[in-house]
Amino acid sequence: MALSIGVPCETDPDETRVALVPDVADRLLATAEGLEIRVEEGAGRGAYYADADYEAAGCTVVDRATALEADLVTTVAPLPLDDIATLGEGQGVIGFLRPLEQPETAQALAERGVTALAMELVPRISRAQKLDALSAMSSIGGYRAALRAAERLPKFFPLLTTAAGTVRPARVLVLGAGVAGLQAIATAKRLGAKVFGYDIREPTREEVESLGASFVDLEVDIEADQDESGYAEELEKEKQERQPELLQPHLAKADVVISTALIPGRPAPLLINENAVEAMDPGSVIVDLAAPNGGNCAYTETGEEVVAHDVQILGPTNLPAEMPVHASELYAKTVTALIEEGLAEGAFAPDFEDQIFAESCLTREGKVQNERVRGLLEPEEKDA
Ligand code: NAI
Repeated sequence: MALSIGVPCETDPDETRVALVPDVADRLLATAEGLEIRVEEGAGRGAYYADADYEAAGCTVVDRATALEADLVTTVAPLPLDDIATLGEGQGVIGFLRPLEQPETAQALAERGVTALAMELVPRISRAQKLDALSAMSSIGGYRAALRAAERLPKFFPLLTTAAGTVRPARVLVLGAGVAGLQAIATAKRLGAKVFGYDIREPTREEVESLGASFVDLEVDIEADQDESGYAEELEKEKQERQPELLQPHLAKADVVISTALIPGRPAPLLINENAVEAMDPGSVIVDLAAPNGGNCAYTETGEEVVAHDVQILGPTNLPAEMPVHASELYAKTVTALIEEGLAEGAFAPDFEDQIFAESCLTREGKVQNERVRGLLEPEEKDA
């Protein structure tokens, strides 16, 4: 029987992205013979893709139930539990499944016997770069964060020479120089600001400097190891506590701070305390991209904008959804690359011995396969 892929509408009203876009669907249909792609009516609307565009690409436009009956269901955000309850054994799900933040989704998928692949768990190995949805979305987040800051700052970003006098460029400090941070640095730099970058991973120094920004050296060495995926390891408690105090003089000089410091699956480290905010100039802007994990700034409220000591503090949670055309296109490319990796003779039959599928597999054969997620669920199971 032909393999079917379902693309249901996203259910979060703020989610504008869609898991598959017509162009990418078109390419997938051309590479895999006998494939059927069922798109729920209106699934692409938030990202400006019309049902007719999907039909022109060879997809079928269907109702929600039909999309959810497909062999493989692809989404951006995790399906709600009500939808998961309609799924059955033999079906697959691919998407951002928020494994560490929402382990109950994993449990529900396991209970239904679904094979679920989480885009967050795709290993960061060079062979899997084209499947790296997190990096694709982080880049968009960093770009949008710099634009948002430029728009909010009551000052110019670039150096400006006018007949009335010269305006100094804004000083932008980016905390955390991972994928989002480096994109924020590059964007702020292109807008003409004087940019500084800071991270606890030593290899980032070269990356920050190669973008034309200056690396911030703290008076005391605070360095973290990175794991084999390039993620930072959490700092020792003592070092973590000293960081805000050591960063304060650098924060005080910044007109804009874009903070992106994260440790996967942990609360975001506190880097900007109340005193640091108070020491910043009135009108300054903090865009805290760590907001979904609690924020790097003491005043951040997840999903909100607050003003403290006349400093604007933004805690956006889904900047990629503000740029849904490219966000959906890039996301769709990573999802289809994962699908193609698992195709064998017209069926989706991933080799779970392969590192890509071994690590990205969240649930299979009625079980939560990821050890960390199982660890989060076990205390509840014991209570039950
Ligand atoms: P992330 O979003 O988890 O973290 C962002 C940044 O925050 C990281 O650079 C981290 O070192 C930094 N950070 C954490 N705690 C901090 C603290 N207390 N103070 C200051 N900075 C702190 O990580 P992201 O951006 O998703 O990836 C991190 C790195 O992983 C990349 O820069 C790259 O080296 C590596 N990577 C490797 C890929 C591959 O295919 N091999 C793909 C993508 C990323």
